[in-house]
Amino acid sequence: MSGHARLEGREKVTGAARYADDRRPDGCVYACPVPATVARGTVTAIDTSAALADPRVLAVLTHLDAPRLAQAEDPTLAVLQSARVAYRGQYVALAVAESAEAAQQAAAQVGVEYAAEPHDVVLVADHPGVYAPAEANGGHPADRVRGDFEAAWAAAEARIDATYRTPPLHNHPMEPHAATAWWAGGRLTVHDSSQGTGEVQRALAALFGLERAQVLAVSEHVGGGFGCKGTPRPHVVLAAMAARVVGRPVRLALPRAQLAAVVGHRAPTVQRVRLAARADGRIEGLAQEILTRCSTLKEFVEQAAVPARVMYRSPASLTTHRVVRQDVPAPSWMRAPGEATGMFALESAMDELALACGLDPVELRLRNEPDTEPDSDRPFSSRHLTQCLREGARRFGWERRGPAGRAEGRLLVGTGVAASTYPVLIGPAAAEVRAEPDGTFVVRVNATDIGTGARTVLAVIAAEVLAVPLDRVRAEIGRSDLPRGGVAGGSSGTSSWGWAVHAAASGLARRLAEGVPVPPAGLSASADTRELVGRGTEFARHAFGAQFAQVQVDRDTGEVRLRRLLGVFAAGRILNPRTARSQLLGGMVMGASMALLEESTMDPEFGDHAERDLASYHVAVNADVPDVQAHWIEEEDLHVSPMGSKGIGEIGIVGTAAAVANAVHHATGVRVRELPIGARTLL
Ligand code: MOS
Repeated sequence: MSGHARLEGREKVTGAARYADDRRPDGCVYACPVPATVARGTVTAIDTSAALADPRVLAVLTHLDAPRLAQAEDPTLAVLQSARVAYRGQYVALAVAESAEAAQQAAAQVGVEYAAEPHDVVLVADHPGVYAPAEANGGHPADRVRGDFEAAWAAAEARIDATYRTPPLHNHPMEPHAATAWWAGGRLTVHDSSQGTGEVQRALAALFGLERAQVLAVSEHVGGGFGCKGTPRPHVVLAAMAARVVGRPVRLALPRAQLAAVVGHRAPTVQRVRLAARADGRIEGLAQEILTRCSTLKEFVEQAAVPARVMYRSPASLTTHRVVRQDVPAPSWMRAPGEATGMFALESAMDELALACGLDPVELRLRNEPDTEPDSDRPFSSRHLTQCLREGARRFGWERRGPAGRAEGRLLVGTGVAASTYPVLIGPAAAEVRAEPDGTFVVRVNATDIGTGARTVLAVIAAEVLAVPLDRVRAEIGRSDLPRGGVAGGSSGTSSWGWAVHAAASGLARRLAEGVPVPPAGLSASADTRELVGRGTEFARHAFGAQFAQVQVDRDTGEVRLRRLLGVFAAGRILNPRTARSQLLGGMVMGASMALLEESTMDPEFGDHAERDLASYHVAVNADVPDVQAHWIEEEDLHVSPMGSKGIGEIGIVGTAAAVANAVHHATGVRVRELPIGARTLL
C-alpha cells in the first residue's frame, strides 16, 4: 500500500506516546465518581463520613459542597450542581484520594439516599410524549415535504412499506475517557481524551468563569473517539473541579463500566420507509419517517431521514423525525450519526423494491440516479455513485450472482449490496507553517489525531505544497494554544485543518521562492480560512460509495458470519492512501459489527443500558471480518477544497449493515428489519 505510515507510529507501539491518563504531574491525586442508582428522582441524603474516615481521602464532593459552575451550555456538564437525577449513572459525588485504589474504595463507601420517581425508558410508537422537533441533529429541518407523496403512493405499480429498527449503540474506544487537571496562578491545564481541545477549553472557561486564554486543553494522543469524545464530557469538568478543591493535580480515568451512562450513545430508531415506484423500478414517491428518543436533559435527534434527501431521484418525498424525551442517558454522536441508521433502512427498502420489481439491486439504484440533489435541486459538486456500484460489482464478481443464494451443506450463502453516502462538512481553521534554518518545517494547527492519521496527513499536505520530503516536516497539533482548529468529527478534519495548512504552506512557499532568507528564529506564514469557508457553496457536496457483502448462514443455528465485504468509495482525492484505507476499513468493520453484533439493551427495571464491558457489548474482532477490502475511484473535487479531498472517517460505516442484511435475505429468503442480525431474528 502506497502512502505514509503514521508519524507517531513508533511512539505509539513503543509506549512512548502519552495519553491523557499518562501524565504524572508532581503531587497528583486521583478521583473516582459515584454514579446514581436510580433513573429519575432526587438525592435526599449523602453520607460521606465512612469515605472521609480514610486518611488517604482528601475530599468527597457532592451537590451540597461542590464549586458552583456557571450555567452550562450543555446540561450534561452541570455536574454536582443539583440534587436532581435525570438518568441512572449520572454522577452524584466524587471521591478524591492519594491513590486510585483509595479513591475507588471511597467512592464505593459513599452512602446516597434517593427519593426515586417512576421512570420512563421504553420507546414505543404511541408514546404520549412523542413530538415533532424543529431540527434534527446537524441543523437539518426535522421535516421536509416535496411533491405529493400520497398521490404517488396511490398511483404506484410497486410499493414497499416496511418498518426497520436499530438498537441503542455505544462507542467503545480502546482508550476510555480520562483527564488530568491542575490549576496554577488562576490558570487551568487539562490533558483530556478528546476529539477537540478547542471545545474543551471553551466549555471549561465558561463553566469556571475564566477567559479562554486562562485554560489550556491538551489532547496529544487519543485512543479512538468515534463521536463520544466529540463534546467535552463530565469527567473533565469533575477533574478540574476536584483539582481546584484539593489544590493538587487530579487524575480521573473513567472505568469502562461507567462509559455507557456518561459519554453518549447512538439513540435507537424505529423507521418506516415507503417506496412508491413504477413497474420498471423508477421511484415516484419516497417516505422515511423516524421515531427516536433523547434524554430529559437535552434534545438530540438522530437525523436518520437526512440521507434520503440526497440519495435517489423521486418527484415526491416525505422525510420526518419524531422524538420523545425519556429518563435515559443523553444520546450523542456515534460514527455517521443519522447516515448509519437511516441508510440501513433506506438501503434495505431498496433491496426489497428491487425484488418486487424483479430487478437486480445494482440496476435499481442506477435507474434512480438523480441529476441534482433531490431535496435542494442543487448540482452535486461531484457524484460518482454509479461508478462505485459498477466498479464494486466488477471487483466483487457480482455478475455471477443468481436470483437466490446457494447451499453449501448446512450453510446458506448469499450476497448483497447497498449504497453509502456522507456529507462534506468543513469548518474554519487557522494554521501556521514555519521554515526552520536547518531546512525542516513545522506545521502548527489545533487539529486532533484520534487515531485517524490526521497528524500525518497534515504534514503530507504541507510537504506537497512545499515540495519537500515528508521527513522534513513535523506537525504540532492537539493543544488549544495552537492556531484554532475545529473538532475531529463529521469527517471534516482533513478538509478543514488541511485547507488552512495548504494556505499557510502556499504562502510560505511563495516567500521562499522569492528568496526571502530564513532567519535563526525561522520564517513563518499563517492562514485563516474563516472567510473562505464562510462563503458557502452553490453545490451539494457529498461522498458516495457502494458496499458488497457475502454472508453464510448456518441453517441449524441461525448463526450469520460475514465472508467478504468490499467497498468502493468516491470521496474526493485520497491524500494518504495508507491511512485512508485504514479509515475506510475501520468504518466498514464497525458497520459489519453494527450489522451482526452490537447492541445495547435498555433494562426497563433499572432504566439503563445493561452492557457495560466488552464481554457483553460485542464488537467485531478479526475472526468476524475475514476479508474486508476498501477501494476508491479517482475523484478530485476542487469545489470542496484546494486539496480536492472530501472526508473518509465515516462513510465506511454507512450502508454496510444493509449490504449484510440484504445478503442474509439472498441466502435465506428471510428479511431482517431489525439490528443486530442475530440467530434469534432468523430462527
Ligand atoms: Mo464523529 S460521530 O463525527 O465524531
